Amino acid sequence: MKKTVTLLTLAVLVIAAYSCKKNTGTSALKTSSLVLPATTEQFYNGNMAGTWADSMNKVATLGKVLFYDGHLSINNAVSCGSCHKQTLGFADNKTLSVGFEGRLTKRNSIGFNNISFGTTLFWDGRENNLANLALRPLTNHVEMGITDEAYLPAKLSALSYYTPLFMNAFGDNQVTNERISNAIATFLRSISSNNSRFDQYNNGNKEAMTALEIQGMSLFSTKYNCASCHSSSFGGYYGFNNFKDIGLDENYADNGRGTVSANKADQGTFRIPNLRNVALTAPYMHDGRYATLNDVLEHYSHNIKSSPNLDPLLKDKDGKARAMNISDNEKLAIIAFLNTFTDYTTVADPKFSNPFKVID
Ligand code: HEC
Ligand code: HEC
Repeated sequence: MKKTVTLLTLAVLVIAAYSCKKNTGTSALKTSSLVLPATTEQFYNGNMAGTWADSMNKVATLGKVLFYDGHLSINNAVSCGSCHKQTLGFADNKTLSVGFEGRLTKRNSIGFNNISFGTTLFWDGRENNLANLALRPLTNHVEMGITDEAYLPAKLSALSYYTPLFMNAFGDNQVTNERISNAIATFLRSISSNNSRFDQYNNGNKEAMTALEIQGMSLFSTKYNCASCHSSSFGGYYGFNNFKDIGLDENYADNGRGTVSANKADQGTFRIPNLRNVALTAPYMHDGRYATLNDVLEHYSHNIKSSPNLDPLLKDKDGKARAMNISDNEKLAIIAFLNTFTDYTTVADPKFSNPFKVID
């Protein structure tokens, strides 16, 4: 009985189109339609009705629509996907991202893949629960302009295409902040990356990387010890819950982790970023100060400053800021290696892409 209802609502959903006034102030009226495939997409493996994966897939489908929906911002113009672009590894190509009414974010956007339970989120690790992200639009994503907790459920309830989506995901059409958050988090957790050339090489295909890239890997892991911070564990050169000061500035403009912990030793430290898809996520660092990977290597090569909490790995024997003096050829090799982390499967996978198609 329940199965019939589900299938019917899905059919309605596929043909549902909606009109969306992109109220950006200047631009013309745009109409988008929501286009979802007729069968539930496989965010989690397995679509057998009634299984764990089947119910997760339905929640993730709702999450994907929410993620790309401008209605989650106060003026309908900014969606999560505005600053987290699939083709850019879910980061943004801006130094600071632009939110509603042109407001800038405080820091550089972070790409995502393989977000797991227990990961501290943001450059300063101020959040450790993915599901809290959408629940706290004010503190975490002020750029969407929403301050009132009751605003989103009321607004989304009035959009007809959400009725079947919430029914499918949760069994009834009640829209709550908790469900919104849960759905977005379920979608984000499904964004995995495991098919870069680096993964293929590690999985035994020794042809997947060139000699130059393999040389870069050795420089990265051994000679310059980058891997002692950017470790390859947990599927992706993630520093996870480690915060380090890499000597960007002698005086901190942003206290990073120190703004969260109020501990002096945390000042100027930032979460070690995930280097998966790093070739796509320029510009770099928490403030987007470096335009290219070459600039990043220049930093490690001779721009490390004697900042108050500089990590010991980046100091020489006398305790001064170290200059790694990476040669130009070595830089090329390391950059070639960093490029092997790009996962073209994830960044082109239709199930992670924007389901709203502009039709005018
Ligand atoms: C105006 C641009 C903008 C919008 C809109 C936006 N984000 Fe972000 N997002 C950022 C920036 C910038 C950061 C890094 C902020 C920081 O660390 O202080 C970030 C960080 C994140 C992170 C942390 C990733 C990690 O590995 O730590 C997640 C997850 C995330 N955003 C999800 C979302 C979701 C979900 C939405 C929609 C509800 C959203 N973002 C909307 C710019 C944006
Ligand atoms: C002491 C730990 C540490 C070491 C050693 C280290 N890094 Fe980093 N790396 C970090 C941290 C922390 C950041 C972010 C800093 C910030 O934004 O304030 C970072 C940022 C980066 C970024 C920018 C990523 C982004 O998304 O913005 C790249 C690329 C990078 N490192 C590569 C390397 C390479 C290559 C080496 C070796 C030559 C290296 N790192 C050595 C900790 C380290």
